[in-house]
Amino acid sequence: MTGFNDQVIEEFRKNKGKLGGMFEGWKLILLTTTGAKSGERRTNPLGYLEIDGKTVVVASNMGSSRNPGWYHDIRRDHRVTIETGTETHEAIAAVPPAAERAELFAKVVTIDPGFAEYQAKTTRELPVVILHRIDDRVRGMGDFLVEVHAWLREEIATLRAGIDDLVAGRADSLTMEKSLRAHCVSFCEALTKHHTGEDMGAFPMLAQRFPALAPTLTKLGEDHVVVAALQKRIRGLVEGYVYGESDPTRLRDDFDELAGRLEAHFAAEERTVVTALNVTAPG
Ligand SMILES: [Fe+2]
Ligand SMILES: [Fe+2]
Repeated sequence: MTGFNDQVIEEFRKNKGKLGGMFEGWKLILLTTTGAKSGERRTNPLGYLEIDGKTVVVASNMGSSRNPGWYHDIRRDHRVTIETGTETHEAIAAVPPAAERAELFAKVVTIDPGFAEYQAKTTRELPVVILHRIDDRVRGMGDFLVEVHAWLREEIATLRAGIDDLVAGRADSLTMEKSLRAHCVSFCEALTKHHTGEDMGAFPMLAQRFPALAPTLTKLGEDHVVVAALQKRIRGLVEGYVYGESDPTRLRDDFDELAGRLEAHFAAEERTVVTALNVTAPG
């Protein structure tokens, strides 16, 4: 079969995506995934459908009882490459939740009843996969997350400057404490809201669509818990701060620990979830 696959791939690339013989008239793409076990890139010619502007593929394996290898691959690593014959795109492969899958599959069999025949051959529910092209122009939830992080980073810098003033004994103590207290409360509330939104909304949605992301998302969720504990401690220090009595360096040290953890957390989130969020929920 490998020899046959290679031949099809070669013909596909040579003829700009148009194939003759048994594939005459088929809408095909070449999908390149990273092998779940081997870690090596492998390419498969695959029939695809355009549904509501999305590129959709079905892990039919022609009705066999087992999922095709590429489906296992995308569950381990959602980054794929699509070749249309004339263009090559980087993309990410998303597994829609049950209701969306059912809706898509109904449309799939309307367009190509062959898939209903494949489904009838097996007890396995044929997985439907959406291939989202990564387009630099896409701005969505991921970019929104980056913007929120940027704003939170500015808040951190402002708070840190306020604590510096306190340590250096600059500025009028009472005004200083008041503004720090107010600022600290609003910052903590914004941060908690942001993390709750991730925990309740974006992360579970991403973990379902992109199973490969699940372990990372679990870790990021654990960060939220650690950060919340630090926040609570800092809030306690700021609220209980008495000028001339409390130690401002302790507050500064605790704050630096929080700021360091948050920066690492934001960076990790931006590395892992931004692209997935952008293609999933364009703004
Ligand atoms: Fe987060
Ligand atoms: Fe975040």
